[in-house]
Amino acid sequence: MTQQSPKVAVVTGATSGIGLEVTRLLAGRGHRVFLCARTEDGVTRTVKELLDEGLEVDGAPCDVRSRDDVGRFVRQAVDRFGTIDVLVNNAGRSGGGITADITDDLWYDVIDTNLNSVFLMTREVLTTGGMRGKDRGRIINIASTAGKQGVVLGAPYSASKHGVVGFTKALGNELAPTGITVNAVCPGYVETPMAQRVRQGYAAAYDTTEDAILEKFQAKIPLGRYSTPEEVAGLVGYLASDSAASITSQALNVCGGLGNF
Ligand SMILES: NC(=O)c1ccc[n+]([C@@H]2O[C@H](COP(=O)([O-])OP(=O)(O)OC[C@H]3O[C@@H](n4cnc5c(N)ncnc54)[C@H](OP(=O)(O)O)[C@@H]3O)[C@@H](O)[C@H]2O)c1
Repeated sequence: MTQQSPKVAVVTGATSGIGLEVTRLLAGRGHRVFLCARTEDGVTRTVKELLDEGLEVDGAPCDVRSRDDVGRFVRQAVDRFGTIDVLVNNAGRSGGGITADITDDLWYDVIDTNLNSVFLMTREVLTTGGMRGKDRGRIINIASTAGKQGVVLGAPYSASKHGVVGFTKALGNELAPTGITVNAVCPGYVETPMAQRVRQGYAAAYDTTEDAILEKFQAKIPLGRYSTPEEVAGLVGYLASDSAASITSQALNVCGGLGNF
């Protein structure tokens, strides 16, 4: 029997929420995971926490909005663990408001963080990261149910995530003959620090409390609760596996029934 070498995964935005649980799950399944977020402190703390759990991880700071950072980060990942088998584009931000009042800065930052970053990181992993030369690869983009339907007071966010879904479908079809699959995972409401910030934003916009917003959101979810980061990571882990070789160009929801499209 031939010994399979461990697969190398890269996860962006891995110091919190969904990215942290994705990293924990992939590393727990024997992947060597190279991770990033913007701050050195956050990366160092997360790497230490996961090493203490016995997982094989390392990382470096990288702002996914920056082409230079992305180039450096992917070179560091290859130098540390070897060419990349699995890319999880997870880093993202919320952002919105009354559309007529949205500043250029907010609009461009949401699109740069959530959408342009996915192109920059994917291109770099395919080239410098060596994925293009392999006969198997996994690119998994964390989009959102807001990438399939409009979200009130969330025009930049919704636009960015629709863009991620479109990019995923186009690249999935392009790369299908190569054995590299490209899929989007679309969470609905997931309890993370971002979800807390989103509730704060809506509470301010509607002049109400965060608890009232939580109740309103939960009432929209057939399951009656937010999903957990672990539940989102579970689907990412499946898509990264060999069994998922025929799933490509898809945008799959993890949302307690919130979206059934
Ligand atoms: N939570 C939800 O309800 C929900 C629903 C649908 C989709 N999503 C999507 O799921 C993904 C993760 O969200 P989350 O809820 O886990 O958010 P989170 O808890 O706020 O974590 C976001 C992570 O991304 C990093 N990050 C942010 N901007 C970055 C940048 N420019 N470059 C590199 N890293 C960056 C953050 O670290 P630093 O700030 O230190 O850089 C952090 O590690 C996002 O794409 C989000 O849009 C979330």
